Amino acid sequence: MPPLQLQGGDDYEAIARAVQPVPRHRSHDPANNQKRTDPFQFGQRYLEEGDDVFEFNAWDHVETDAEYREYAELQYSKQKESPVREDARENYNNNPSKFWNKFYKHNTSNFFKNRKWLQQEFPILAEVTQPDAGPKTILEVGAGAGNSAFPILANNKNEQLKLHACDYSKKAVEVMRKSEKYDERYMQADVWDASADGEGSLPPGLGPESVDVVLMVFIFSALSPKEWSRTVRNIYRVLKPGGHVLFRDYGKGDLAQVRFKSGRWMADNFYVRGDGTRVYFFELDELTHIWGKWSPEKGIPEIIESSKNEDGTTSPPDLPDDAGFKILDLAVDRRLIVNRQRKLKMYRCWMQGRFQKKEIGSEPSGTSDSEAQAVEVPN
Ligand SMILES: C[S@@+](CC[C@H](N)C(=O)[O-])C[C@H]1O[C@@H](n2cnc3c(N)ncnc32)[C@H](O)[C@@H]1O
Repeated sequence: MPPLQLQGGDDYEAIARAVQPVPRHRSHDPANNQKRTDPFQFGQRYLEEGDDVFEFNAWDHVETDAEYREYAELQYSKQKESPVREDARENYNNNPSKFWNKFYKHNTSNFFKNRKWLQQEFPILAEVTQPDAGPKTILEVGAGAGNSAFPILANNKNEQLKLHACDYSKKAVEVMRKSEKYDERYMQADVWDASADGEGSLPPGLGPESVDVVLMVFIFSALSPKEWSRTVRNIYRVLKPGGHVLFRDYGKGDLAQVRFKSGRWMADNFYVRGDGTRVYFFELDELTHIWGKWSPEKGIPEIIESSKNEDGTTSPPDLPDDAGFKILDLAVDRRLIVNRQRKLKMYRCWMQGRFQKKEIGSEPSGTSDSEAQAVEVPN
């Protein structure tokens, strides 16, 4: 295939159309490709040389091709050249929940996806919902309309489970409370700002070290980088020692990032959508840094460009002994979604991880805002 001649102003769809499929061959081999029914089930279909990329709707763990990466870089520099207007930026950052309230007011029909992948990807969710699991508390942060909370409850067999589903959008909490699936015996939905300081830094009805599992699905990306440290601190405070954080969010290079047009860029990898909601796209090193280096005393240390080895690879970062969390696993989940009819290739990229609060120490002493300043990223 001849290399694509890309211009900064090219439309992604035009690019995707220009990418020719390779001849059909291996994708017919059933041993290589199982039919996918759920877009979130990992690791079942791999694209290899000789496969017809347009044979199936989705492929797992596909690295982006050079043309896409080049196109993405061009898009990033174009986005940065025409950032969001200064006055509008303040509006988006000063009261972000206002925009999420509007979102939940207008998008009432797209809720309640059945996230079957949750328990498969995060087996601890299956464990705490077993009949004999005993008293267990799950906190879902930024729970939205309950897309994760309700499927968890639907599978729950533990009479002693309590799921606290919190969101700082009043409208989202209203949607959860009004749902016919909302069962007060097992669920409590509350307004809570995960990045709050002072008295509001713990969710309603939950004390320090009271939660077994914290679930964060596409919430961390909705925060401004200045809010990361406070949020990690609040989660650390509310978790029991040994408690787990289950994390899934957007990765850098995801189609949603590459697609942003002018007037949406707020900082590197940080954008505001057309509806005023904010979104950040993470890199693996960055998340390793945030969750692996955060400590109760120092917050998130300043990010220093990771040094490359001679062969161009990077070594795993040294994680400090005083870090609050242990990274159990953290990985990039890439998927190539294909529109077979229109011959479009769309690269999706998500980050997924599990972090565990270390058993040492208990309450962080530093609950001041000073640690939130440690990461210097424009808001
Ligand atoms: C992309 S949505 C994801 C919702 C839900 N987790 C899901 O996967 O369907 C992000 C959610 O995070 C919430 N959110 C953003 N910042 C928050 C904060 N500081 N505290 C609590 N919730 C927040 C928003 O209101 C929104 O519901």
